[in-house]
Amino acid sequence: MIVDQYGRGVSYLRLSVTDRCNLRCFYCRNCKYLKFISHQNILTYEEMFELIRACVDLGVQKIRLTGGEPFVRRDFLYFLARLRDKFPFLDLRITTNGTLIANKVQALKDMGINCINISLDTLDADKFIEITGRDFYHKVRTSIDRCLEKGIRVKINVVALKGVNDNELEDFVRFALTHPVDIRFIEFMPIGGRTMWNKDFYWSAKEILTAAQKITPLILQQKAGQTSGPAKIFGLKEGQGRLGIISPLSDHFCDKCNRLRITPDGKLRTCLFSDKEYRLLPLLRSPKLGLEQLKKVLEQTSRKKPLGYNLLSRDENKQSVCQRVMSSIGG
Ligand code: 5AD
Ligand code: SF4
Repeated sequence: MIVDQYGRGVSYLRLSVTDRCNLRCFYCRNCKYLKFISHQNILTYEEMFELIRACVDLGVQKIRLTGGEPFVRRDFLYFLARLRDKFPFLDLRITTNGTLIANKVQALKDMGINCINISLDTLDADKFIEITGRDFYHKVRTSIDRCLEKGIRVKINVVALKGVNDNELEDFVRFALTHPVDIRFIEFMPIGGRTMWNKDFYWSAKEILTAAQKITPLILQQKAGQTSGPAKIFGLKEGQGRLGIISPLSDHFCDKCNRLRITPDGKLRTCLFSDKEYRLLPLLRSPKLGLEQLKKVLEQTSRKKPLGYNLLSRDENKQSVCQRVMSSIGG
């Protein structure tokens, strides 16, 4: 396995398969500034297989496919099936907005996908339209129900937004009490240059926890041997589900970070909070260079992975740490 300059083992790749999305979440996609990556600069599926091969050879054990919305990319389901065949031992995960998967849940289950992360910032259909610009709330809820019926674990990612969904905390807690899901609040991060980050929306992990504890007792769960996950997970005394808090800002987990990110145009990012990118596409498209060369570059660049909190602390108002929008990084 690659071990970086701070002794962190690199074992987890987040690969964004597209920067397109069928939603327009106000904090992520400010249409005025949104530029799409041109088609010829998007990694082909064959190129992704090559990249994944290189990463797996270097010790990556877990891959999360993200977007944008991965299911808007043509033949994504077929890509997943082939990926599963080629790398049967990979821990394969998906993050989706859940709007397009209701009729694909059985196929996902058949591929052995046992856990899906679904982004859902509200349990109110009207507010869903306000946040995302689309009337798809019920599609997402259907997808969640189908996953649970088929025995696929569901983690619901909620971007915590003061003034937007903080008044729904009780509804979310009730949802976790009555459904076997993890509901994970993610602190709003200063991602995406000129998009929407604004401290008025910032609802801190501490505030969320204090408020949630008043609704129901929370029991901190620490899985034995688990060091890499950034989420703090709490069991609910009487409920089926759990609550989680992901707090990259107030309680950074950079010391234990094991991840690499690759953007849809094949740029390696070794830290979410750094705009330093390494272009892999020219390597993949050069007839002279092969897998070994690709591995060498991946290894050398990964060793230089920075500590994100150093980058954040340099920028007091946290406005400009990352210029790329989330939909082209993949969260
Ligand atoms: N801060 C926190 N989470 C974000 N997401 C998108 N933009 C931000 C942000 N600025 C979330 C999406 C999805 C995941 C991939 O990242 O809602 O749940
Ligand atoms: Fe799409 Fe996710 Fe961005 Fe919303 S946050 S617009 S679902 S990529």
